[in-house]
Amino acid sequence: AETGVNKRIDFEDLVRHDRVHGRVYYDEEIFRREVEQIWRKEWVFACHDSEIAQPGDYVTRLVSLVPLVITRDEDGDIHAMINRCPHRGNVLCMRDSGSAQVFRCAYHGWTFNNGGKLLGRTFRAGYAPGYGKEGEELNLVPVPRLETYRGFVFVNFSPEGPSLIETLGAAVPHLDRYVDRSPTGEIDIVGVEKMVIRANWKMPLENSVDDYHAGFVHRGIWDMDEDLRKVWYSTEDADSEAVNIDLGNGHTAMDFGSGIRTVGGGVTESVVPDEVQREYEDSLRRRLGEEGANAVLKQAVPHMMVFPNLFMLQNDLRIITPVGVRTTHYYHYVFNLRGADPLINRARLRRHEVSYGPAGMVLQDDIEVFERNQAGIESRIGSGEEWLDLSRGLHRESTNSLGQPTGRTKDEIAQRAIWKHYKDRMTQS
Ligand code: FES
Ligand code: FE
Repeated sequence: AETGVNKRIDFEDLVRHDRVHGRVYYDEEIFRREVEQIWRKEWVFACHDSEIAQPGDYVTRLVSLVPLVITRDEDGDIHAMINRCPHRGNVLCMRDSGSAQVFRCAYHGWTFNNGGKLLGRTFRAGYAPGYGKEGEELNLVPVPRLETYRGFVFVNFSPEGPSLIETLGAAVPHLDRYVDRSPTGEIDIVGVEKMVIRANWKMPLENSVDDYHAGFVHRGIWDMDEDLRKVWYSTEDADSEAVNIDLGNGHTAMDFGSGIRTVGGGVTESVVPDEVQREYEDSLRRRLGEEGANAVLKQAVPHMMVFPNLFMLQNDLRIITPVGVRTTHYYHYVFNLRGADPLINRARLRRHEVSYGPAGMVLQDDIEVFERNQAGIESRIGSGEEWLDLSRGLHRESTNSLGQPTGRTKDEIAQRAIWKHYKDRMTQS
């Protein structure tokens, strides 16, 4: 059914193939509609199963503007539930993560097991016999759908619609290649950095697969290193096999091909001893076979964005969490390749720190741009300057052998792919 909001905002007009209107970054009504149409209908990444590895483990997360508690029960099953006590609505679990068989509400002491079932109300004698006795209405409310793929836990607030795997679609082979760097095919989240961005959530979304900015915003770090500069510090298109790909459903990838090859899953060769690297490569061959291992080892690590909130880089996952139209939480999860030599994982961590950690030299540049970009877009007098340009490379966009729109990494293919899907979502009834 058409809502009032839908009638007033014409997304066909605001989001075009080669441009987008700045209003989509600051309009409160548009933000509310995004929550309805995107965040409450898409598969949204919620957590990784290694964060709740043992029975009883839990994490709390804001997902699609809903505080969730995500648990693993004694049978090993994962539950994603609204972190809200059904008695009078208090936030039930107040910690980021931990292990608990029972949650006890701090307000009036009701208790629930880690599957969300009400175990007991306090001062029972005060309740009429039979009232809500076995009633499910007094259990925690589960998110309608939860599915996992290779350890990535996604939730969907809409009870109907395509499955997770259908929605991931063409992103699956890239996601597989990302995780297949691990000798066991699994990864373990080991830490998180949290930051708050004073900008709309679509800023980091668009920036994630944007090579155009790298030679400018990150010029400082590339200038320190001759090799990096060759690859990155270019105002023209890099002459390489690297491409950006529209994977459909808003998912995008920057595929460096064999252009920038890193070993140990994102570590330049010199820091890992030869024999450690050889054993790592052999471990991939044992699990994936020669061809499968080569697909991982001879290609750069996938650099991809799973719409709307999961960004996968070489050594960390980034999660985009909208909090308001101008406030976004941006979390970085560092992970180990399970079963890899500690020297490899340590080198990956060091590399992460240099780029993205609190003292890192890459991410801070981006954060500054997000905030400045938001401020710039909001500085308007309404004389037509509100349109933002997305046309780079439009005239030379092509399709790859899989029929996916593709082109050079500095072309705005990924941005157009995101906005195309965004418009589909926002105009859907
Ligand atoms: Fe939780 Fe009252 S609000 S026990
Ligand atoms: Fe950047």
